[in-house]
Amino acid sequence: MVAARITVNGKETRISPAPAHTTVLEFLRERGLTGTKEGCAEGECGACSVLVARPGVDRPTDWVAVNACLVPVAALDGQEVVTSEGLATGGGSAAPAVLHPVQEEMAVRGGSQCGYCTPGFICSMASEYYRPDRCAHASPADGPADGPADSSGSEHGPNGFDLHALSGNLCRCTGYRPIRDAAYAVGMPAEDDPLALRREQSPPEPAATAYTQDDSAFLRPGTLADAVRLLRERPDAVVVAGSTDWGVEVNIRSRRADCVVAVDRLPELRTLHVGSDHIEIGAARTLTEIERRLDGAVPLLAELFPQFASRLIRNSATLGGNLGTGSPIGDSPPVLLALEASLVLADADGEREVPLCDYFTGYRQSVRRPGELIRAVRVPLPLSPVTAFHKIAKRRFDDISSVAVAFALDIEDGTVRKARIGLGGVAATPIRALATEAALEGEPWTARTAEAAARVLRDEGTPMDDHRASAAYRSAMLGQSLLKLYARTTEAVSS
Ligand code: FES
Ligand code: FES
Repeated sequence: MVAARITVNGKETRISPAPAHTTVLEFLRERGLTGTKEGCAEGECGACSVLVARPGVDRPTDWVAVNACLVPVAALDGQEVVTSEGLATGGGSAAPAVLHPVQEEMAVRGGSQCGYCTPGFICSMASEYYRPDRCAHASPADGPADGPADSSGSEHGPNGFDLHALSGNLCRCTGYRPIRDAAYAVGMPAEDDPLALRREQSPPEPAATAYTQDDSAFLRPGTLADAVRLLRERPDAVVVAGSTDWGVEVNIRSRRADCVVAVDRLPELRTLHVGSDHIEIGAARTLTEIERRLDGAVPLLAELFPQFASRLIRNSATLGGNLGTGSPIGDSPPVLLALEASLVLADADGEREVPLCDYFTGYRQSVRRPGELIRAVRVPLPLSPVTAFHKIAKRRFDDISSVAVAFALDIEDGTVRKARIGLGGVAATPIRALATEAALEGEPWTARTAEAAARVLRDEGTPMDDHRASAAYRSAMLGQSLLKLYARTTEAVSS
């Protein structure tokens, strides 16, 4: 077996003897790359952001920023990582280092005071700097935007830089204005920029990893058949894709699984195609990949993504992971329930398809059997034309929802022909608002119908009081959500 290795800033290094639960952040810092910082250790501050070479959306390779505090270093066996130290060129005794363009702009525009957050900002900024389609949004005549984000959540600068690339990075002392100025001042990569040129080559292949240290193992099977066989033998294994949950469990709750199995690079879990009667999305596609590849083809998903955590998290998180954890406040289940999605589950005996509305059976419980994987999500076509996703949370971005409501309605000749409504945060599982759907279907789409259905919607589920919101508030927000949708659709008709 080949020893697990990782290439950091162009230098290959062995991962051993790091324990199997070692994060990329711990690994880098132990090797002296202390630019990568730990702030929160749970994916919320971005101080640990690093760049990873991943399969690209428009080119063979993208430089993707990820939270190093959440990723097991063994998951990057055979992969390439660039830290803030690897962005500058030159240096040493012969000549001073030449700062990378994003470092230069952060320095000259006062984007750093104490500097703790700065390397993380630099890596997130560099990922956006190298995004191949950034120039498509460039509009020099407009100048930097001062207004709020548009409905998609984007805030593009005159150089096409989407400020939401930095939505997972927090700064406590500089203030965001100089950081935004730096982001909007960076140009396009030079033709001989080595990281820009690297995008034209294939990304590293996923390694079939069997990394064992101190009686715990990190395993990356090479095929789906190997994965389901392994899960049959080790039903106790923790399955990871983006590892955004794994990292929190390890860092905050000190969990140490004996066996972790990575499925994020299995080709069978990375399908993404639009058919005549459904769209299939591989369970291990990252949310960023889905967002960019679908490019608005499913408007309800396009509305969801900007509200799902931060760009840093979406660069790793997957639909399979969000569904697999079974959280009642995950953001994707209400949307997928409204879309009438189904899940393709796979194990060593084959595959079966389960409607998402039949998938959850209790708090973090589902019909998924031990050893079974979520292989893909299927969204039936055609899509209902009137859709909305309302996430009610304390912050607009990068927060956990108190309540989430997704609507998908067919309204023909002023009558609601079909209504599908998914809810999160109001029961032990994500649920469909079946009584409200029934109250809407066959009724004229009028203020009276919306008000009557909103009263029904307020009584759906069994909302609780907790630190995020009271049961009464959650219930009230359900009703308001439907009234907001009605107001929006009638505004659109009258304008
Ligand atoms: Fe805060 Fe990683 S240390 S996101
Ligand atoms: Fe101090 Fe950002 S420069 S936290």
